Amino acid sequence: MSESRIANPAGTRHYRPETRLVHGGTLRSQFGETSEALFLTQGYIYETAEQCAARFANTDPGYIYSRFANPTVAMFEQRMIELEAAEAARATATGMAAVTTAILAPLRAGDHVVAAKAMFGSCRFVVEDLLPRYGISSTLVDGLDLDQWQKAMRPNTKTLFLESPTNPTLEVLDITEIARIAHKGGARLIVDNVFATPIWQSPLSLGADVVVYSATKHIDGQGRCLGGVILSSNDFIQEHIHNFLRQTGPSMSPFNAWVLLKGLETLGVRVRQQTENAAKVADALAKHPKISKLIYPGRSDHPQAETVKKQMRAGSSLVAFEVKGERAAAFRVLNALKITRISNNLGDAKSLVTHPTTTTHQRLTAEARAELGITEGMIRFSAGLEHPDDLIEDLYAALEKA
Ligand SMILES: Cc1ncc(COP(=O)(O)O)c(C=O)c1O
Repeated sequence: MSESRIANPAGTRHYRPETRLVHGGTLRSQFGETSEALFLTQGYIYETAEQCAARFANTDPGYIYSRFANPTVAMFEQRMIELEAAEAARATATGMAAVTTAILAPLRAGDHVVAAKAMFGSCRFVVEDLLPRYGISSTLVDGLDLDQWQKAMRPNTKTLFLESPTNPTLEVLDITEIARIAHKGGARLIVDNVFATPIWQSPLSLGADVVVYSATKHIDGQGRCLGGVILSSNDFIQEHIHNFLRQTGPSMSPFNAWVLLKGLETLGVRVRQQTENAAKVADALAKHPKISKLIYPGRSDHPQAETVKKQMRAGSSLVAFEVKGERAAAFRVLNALKITRISNNLGDAKSLVTHPTTTTHQRLTAEARAELGITEGMIRFSAGLEHPDDLIEDLYAALEKA
């Protein structure tokens, strides 16, 4: 093999996703290392003052400063680009940095945003509280109701934002139809694809213009570091995202990019197994007498089962259920679990449970939670990689205490 093939392997887009997850974006140094190199450096030095000036003038390609770009971060971005079949991507320090940047960077005072009201609490804060402080108005709609999306559109609407499945109620929103409404009104659609993961849903291929991830979740998936990524067209990333990140600084650390590259290598096998475990847990809980409601996108009784079939390749690693007896009963169940642990996180190799009312969605008023179907008895279960029978036995034993 020639040296140049080692240093610059061909892209992996023509391979299947599993292959892209392992090889996409790898750039080898002169040492030909197997595992991606960790370029833990803040900055770069230049051969000459002229070269330095040329870098800043953008006439000499190359690295300047790791707030702008870094080779290990670039490998992570390129692997995500190839996985998602996007044109371009930028990595961020956290998922919230990705969401906030993707929404805020292209907007100006006087613009308008429409978003589905069922979303992660911090995303809702950005849309509902933060944007209006800068003169950007927002309207929240029931994401399942296409009429509401259409009616919310105004001449100054620039961005539509949604997550699907939603956190924590696992509603599945019709991405293709909502993208159509956005484009008809001259707006863009941004999709937070955290709950579906890139393994089960590809929003760009469904018509979305931008996809964002909290890489903290399944992409790391082993509880180690935070990260985020924004994927879109070259034009969108160049015009709106690149300079915003460069100047304002919520960039990904090279160390986190290296961890996340390792995470991507095993993402497919982990998410497949976690989804299989979630499906088994959902089926087992569906018939439990102490559970009044169970929501799992992979089951035929999911309220949007047809949309799931249309846009997702499988359910998800998340299950939501409601324990009879409100908050006290839900807390007794959480406190009795031995394998699955209480956390506000998700997508981890370790199974985790969350009580959304008192954690991720505690900022909302009781009325807003009720409107979203987030009840006092609701528990969000994130399936890990343990044996599903152990998880089910643990949940059944804890439900005895409900
Ligand atoms: C759907 C969704 N989007 C975004 C985020 C934010 O990600 P991060 O914690 O990496 O900032 C989270 C969770 O925290 C989430 O669940």
